[in-house]
Amino acid sequence: MLRFGVVGYGYWGPNIVRNLRSLESCQVVGICDPSPTAWKRIQAAHPGVPVYSDSKELIGAPDVDAIAVITPVWTHYELTKAALENGKHVFVEKPFTSNVAQAEELINLAEKKNLQIMVDHTFLFTGAVRKIRKLLNEGTLGKLYYYDSTRVNLGLFQHDCNVIWDLAPHDLSIMNHLLHKEAEAISATGQSHLNGHEDIAFITAFFPDSMIAHINVNWLSPVKVRTTLIGGEKKMLVWNDLEADEKLKIYDKGVDVKTQEGVYNLLVSYRSGDMWAPQVEQVEALKLELNYFVECIQKDAKPFNGGCAGLKVVRMLEAANESLAKRGALVYL
Ligand SMILES: NC(=O)c1ccc[n+]([C@@H]2O[C@H](COP(=O)([O-])OP(=O)(O)OC[C@H]3O[C@@H](n4cnc5c(N)ncnc54)[C@H](O)[C@@H]3O)[C@@H](O)[C@H]2O)c1
Repeated sequence: MLRFGVVGYGYWGPNIVRNLRSLESCQVVGICDPSPTAWKRIQAAHPGVPVYSDSKELIGAPDVDAIAVITPVWTHYELTKAALENGKHVFVEKPFTSNVAQAEELINLAEKKNLQIMVDHTFLFTGAVRKIRKLLNEGTLGKLYYYDSTRVNLGLFQHDCNVIWDLAPHDLSIMNHLLHKEAEAISATGQSHLNGHEDIAFITAFFPDSMIAHINVNWLSPVKVRTTLIGGEKKMLVWNDLEADEKLKIYDKGVDVKTQEGVYNLLVSYRSGDMWAPQVEQVEALKLELNYFVECIQKDAKPFNGGCAGLKVVRMLEAANESLAKRGALVYL
């Protein structure tokens, strides 16, 4: 039985506590949040679970094996470091840290102490991403041309980071998990209108073999859109995460070029075949992810969404911010 302490009970923390408590292999032995409103919500939802206002007390408690850090990004480094120094495994929210140097330091510390870090890239455990990964690994789409994601809605404005650091970790972690390729360079543009942080941004990532990715994140959209297009030589895929049933659609559409001469003379034929919607497993991603974390600790195995995956995302976010400051100049990774 793995004993968890959860630090941070704002918007996302309750989901972590609920899912941890639903697993037979673990137990929540304490929840920490300095906010009196959070205290009331914890006591109402989880009577009997001890509540702390000082994270040091919970992180240092001898009956705690692992800490879940579900607080704003600027606190991740300090809390994760304290947990590792106290000999605890850490489940930490995305984005892993505020910069690359912090992520590298935490990875080294965990290595030295033989402890596991898992970064909450929840989407990797959804039925949709698991299915897309399978399809790509089987070569269903053929050679990939592009990855194009739109993640826009109205709010929730964050006061400690821009829209890239808030929303793009999802797309970057999914992309890294699916593509098995490393981006070579990043360009990002964006604009802030309200609170000094960019509320709309466009990121372009360049990959080897002419593969390109584009991510559109926006807190100022009148409608919510969660759509990803993945274009390949053989097939094209559309993932609409807001669809209840047919989240994924595969189109047998494309362009066939018979000869090199054909390209110059535009003698191409457009292929428009069938569309099908593959079955997507209905799972609670967070439950699957937390269960996997417990298993990794028990087996002393490194999770695929561990510190290194978190670092890769932070490195891309840092590059995007650098490019943003230079109005889209290319930043090499
Ligand atoms: N994986 C996902 O899909 C997903 C979804 C939403 C949020 N998140 C991530 O979860 C994290 C928290 O986001 P949120 O929306 O819940 O934020 P929030 O502001 O709603 O909640 C954060 C909570 O942490 C508490 N807190 C702050 N500093 C603390 C400290 N030092 N010790 C203990 N408690 C502290 C605050 O009082 C607050 O209650 C962020 O990193 C965010 O990116 C992830």
